[in-house]
Amino acid sequence: MPQFKTRKYAWPVRAIHWLSAILILVAYLTSELSEEIEEGEYAGPDWHVAAGLSLLLLFLPRVLARVLTRTPPIVPPPARWSVLAAKLTTLALVLFVVVQPVLGVLLVWSEGHALVVPFLDIAIPPMVALGHGAEDTLEEAHELLGNAFYAVIALHALAALWHHFARRDDTLRRML
Ligand code: HEM
Ligand code: HEM
Repeated sequence: MPQFKTRKYAWPVRAIHWLSAILILVAYLTSELSEEIEEGEYAGPDWHVAAGLSLLLLFLPRVLARVLTRTPPIVPPPARWSVLAAKLTTLALVLFVVVQPVLGVLLVWSEGHALVVPFLDIAIPPMVALGHGAEDTLEEAHELLGNAFYAVIALHALAALWHHFARRDDTLRRML
């Protein structure tokens, strides 16, 4: 049992964090769906787009929640290299949750399709003019970033487990 009381992140930060983790999991599990829909192999809702757009919608609340609430200290405090590594990984993850869905939206538009918002059945026609060849570039970028972030997310999750089980500090408990 720890000898100190853990101060947690504010509940909106924790709620948004775990909701994001679930949405990313869903986006990864359904990453082949857009293709299947295009090829007429699947006619249900596009869970990939639904999860990605929900993640994008969470961006403003995420930033507000972080800016308006306090970040609790980690007890006992980690080494400086560890704090720096966490900052870099966090920055990468924050960029990912906005850049990856935006690339997805641009990808759909670059194919000349309207973006159909799942469950709401709203179709948003292409709002930016994308040049010739944009489709291939965006598709590659979206896939590359998606693949690269398996590693970043794994690093982030393993670091959290390392803090909890090996270093035995309250990094993870602050987020639960
Ligand atoms: C965090 C959110 C997202 C993640 C992690 C993600 C991840 C991925 C990955 C890994 C693939 C590649 C699948 C393959 O290997 O072929 C993919 C494909 C795709 N994604 Fe996403 N995606 C996200 C959000 C979005 C959003 C918001 C949209 C559209 C609004 C979107 C549209 C697409 C489309 C159209 C494809 C198929 C590309 C193709 O033609 O090969 N994605 N996504
Ligand atoms: C799957 C996608 C994930 C994303 C995008 C993500 C993103 C983030 C971000 C942006 C932060 C900084 C706090 C904030 O602004 O909310 C954070 C903190 C944290 N995450 Fe995640 N996370 C993910 C998954 C996980 C998983 C699976 C675990 C646990 C095994 C985890 C454990 C933590 C912990 C303990 C913190 C606090 C770290 C600190 O205060 O330095 N995260 N995460």
